Amino acid sequence: MSDPDRPAEGPETAHRFSTTARRAVVALLAVAIGWAAWLWWDSRVPATYSVAPTHSGHGAQVGADGVDVVDLTADPDRPADVRMRLEARSATLTNSNGGSFRGYTLNGSSPGPEIRAREGDMVEVALHNIDVADGTTLHWHGVDVPAAMDGVAGVTQDAVHPGGSFTYRFVAEDPGTYWYHAHQVSHEQVIGGLLGPLVIEPVAGTGQDTDADADATMLLHTYPGGSRTIAGVPEETRRDAAPGATIRVRAINTDNVTAQVWVAGADARLLAVDGTDLHKPGVVKNRRIRLAAGARADLAVTVPADGAVRVQSPGVSLVLGPPDAVAPEAPSPAEELDLLTYGTPAVLPFDAGAPDRSYEYRIGQRVGFLDGRPGYWWTINGRMGRHVPMYTVNEGEVVAMRIVNRSPEVHPMHLHGHHVLVTARDGRPATGSPWWVDSLDVEAGESYDIVFLADNPGIWMDHCHNLPHAVEGLMTHVSYEGVTTPFLLGRGSGNEPE
Ligand code: C2O
Ligand code: CU
Repeated sequence: MSDPDRPAEGPETAHRFSTTARRAVVALLAVAIGWAAWLWWDSRVPATYSVAPTHSGHGAQVGADGVDVVDLTADPDRPADVRMRLEARSATLTNSNGGSFRGYTLNGSSPGPEIRAREGDMVEVALHNIDVADGTTLHWHGVDVPAAMDGVAGVTQDAVHPGGSFTYRFVAEDPGTYWYHAHQVSHEQVIGGLLGPLVIEPVAGTGQDTDADADATMLLHTYPGGSRTIAGVPEETRRDAAPGATIRVRAINTDNVTAQVWVAGADARLLAVDGTDLHKPGVVKNRRIRLAAGARADLAVTVPADGAVRVQSPGVSLVLGPPDAVAPEAPSPAEELDLLTYGTPAVLPFDAGAPDRSYEYRIGQRVGFLDGRPGYWWTINGRMGRHVPMYTVNEGEVVAMRIVNRSPEVHPMHLHGHHVLVTARDGRPATGSPWWVDSLDVEAGESYDIVFLADNPGIWMDHCHNLPHAVEGLMTHVSYEGVTTPFLLGRGSGNEPE
């Protein structure tokens, strides 16, 4: 086709021009394709690889003082106080909208049974995989278990395949509200229901608030294609409670996104966050309480003399009171309780102002290849896939980390094996109760300063608990110097923790 307004070029000029142009375009294309191919090649992880030096001789040399993660266990000679057998199965389940989906059960139900232990108990849980084809594991979310018991496929154990089993043993040291879930193909198995609540009750007189007359677990979960539920039940769940009784409500957010909880019909106090009691928490009036994905909040709620009280979260509520009592309903309060200023300061177990090491965990996003797949992926400190930083620590160190979210989405950040103390948000210091978390929402544009004591040797995942984000690369590890693992990740390993 030719442009009628343009004088025609001589056939020779046009030919010469097009040849030169074509050569240049071809050369540029070749460079671009070569560059993309190299990026693609470089992003591919080997069929199997280790996150840490291995004893097998293929990885880096391990010093004589190297510790294998499998040896980091609880006292093998101590008998169990709480013993449980959990059978994992694939199942076709029905969601709250009547639709069916491929899900999972533990001992025939989802969520799995509530595990209850007393502070100091030795807990022993034998996981049997009956027929979960991808294999499975159990991770004790928020519990600082010994590293070999952390349940991360490819890091602390191999996935348990159908017919296999794995026994988890740990001491329930810190009383509080926790949960357990699969950490193999976790973005499918957790939403599909391979999870359950875990409560560690305090021993009287050891610190945790024991004023409550009873407690009630409120496990929030949304199954595939369904609406929000409390332990599988949509809309309203009721628990009998006498007028005047104070109930410790243990809210657990097992979803991938933030949950909000508030109370209608009474004031509440927020007793604990992520299993740790807050110091002198005041009355919460007209504020909603945020739970990051994976987080827990324990609320003290007193049943009124003449009615019932309703603990609400969008779409669901837990009513506490006599069987026929009516509980009021309230819209979500406009303002959120700010844990940066809630409660009263207390003495800390270490000097948070003088860390031995400081790290940055900067979350971003860019176009590139993640294990050979082109896309728009998450980055950590600008890098992705196997190039993300691994944070090394030594036992005994106080480690500071600044989490910076330069992406447009919230990320519920979760470090395994440790409780971390929040010291500042956007540079503004925390002035309330010590605020210990294991699951922390970092909103778009926010930065959080956290600090933790490296007192639990191992190799610990440090990832986003919006589990599809972990699949998309928002995952790395905090690794103790000298700790090695014999387990492998990668396509050929059978392990896929995300
Ligand atoms: Cu709740 Cu890495 O997990
Ligand atoms: Cu995320």
